[in-house]
Amino acid sequence: MRNAMVGLIVPAAGMGVRLGVGMPKALYTVGGQTLLSHAVRAAVESGVVSAIVVAAPPGLATRVLEFVQPEIPADVLVRVVDGGVSRQSSVRAALTAMSSDIDVVLVHDAARCLAPPRLFAEVAAAVQAGRAAVVPGLEVVDTLKQVDRRGSVVDTPDRTVLRAVQTPQGFRRGLLQRAHDAATGDEATDDAGLVERLGQPVYVVPGDESAFKVTRPLDLLLAEALLAARAADEGHR
Ligand code: C5P
Repeated sequence: MRNAMVGLIVPAAGMGVRLGVGMPKALYTVGGQTLLSHAVRAAVESGVVSAIVVAAPPGLATRVLEFVQPEIPADVLVRVVDGGVSRQSSVRAALTAMSSDIDVVLVHDAARCLAPPRLFAEVAAAVQAGRAAVVPGLEVVDTLKQVDRRGSVVDTPDRTVLRAVQTPQGFRRGLLQRAHDAATGDEATDDAGLVERLGQPVYVVPGDESAFKVTRPLDLLLAEALLAARAADEGHR
């Protein structure tokens, strides 16, 4: 696996209902560029990605390609497919379109648009080093409660054994394909969840706070502030 070719899947077909911007979230602009453009650029900057497949909101594939094309160097193959009704079906559609020479697949939410390039490289390196499924994770700062349907607390899990997981998540391609082929019933909110259902191990590497998912309006303020800080930092160099 050491020199295995790495491909990137970007599920970007969500409608962004919780964000409330009245358009597909991935095409919303922060710091002068779409969330999708930021996400793709960081992946390209990592230098590990040879092919990219974006799952676009149905009907918007041409527009999506126009947004991502400027970020893609000539030696990186890019395709855009129509996403599905769920994140899981969007990833599955993109995996089907991934070129056959790719052995390691990173799946990265367009909504985690500020994940740094080094995170892509670290996750890919862990898969290439022999871990078949790798997720970045952060320690949990809040105390989490498990509740029943009426809102009563039934348990307080020990937070020291919990991790808030992010993307990019990395997989041996064959394992990710098997996990999606076997997926039935409940939709998983991440791809590692499908691998766990196969009974296969998933390995956690340190995540990054800037890989947060733009979900609610407050996240847009945070993204704008982080991009402004990064721009100021570049200006000082
Ligand atoms: O809804 P949530 O924020 O969890 O979505 C995570 C990622 O999955 C987003 O980048 C979103 O665009 C993508 N997604 C998708 N297809 C869907 C729903 C979500 O590609 N049907």
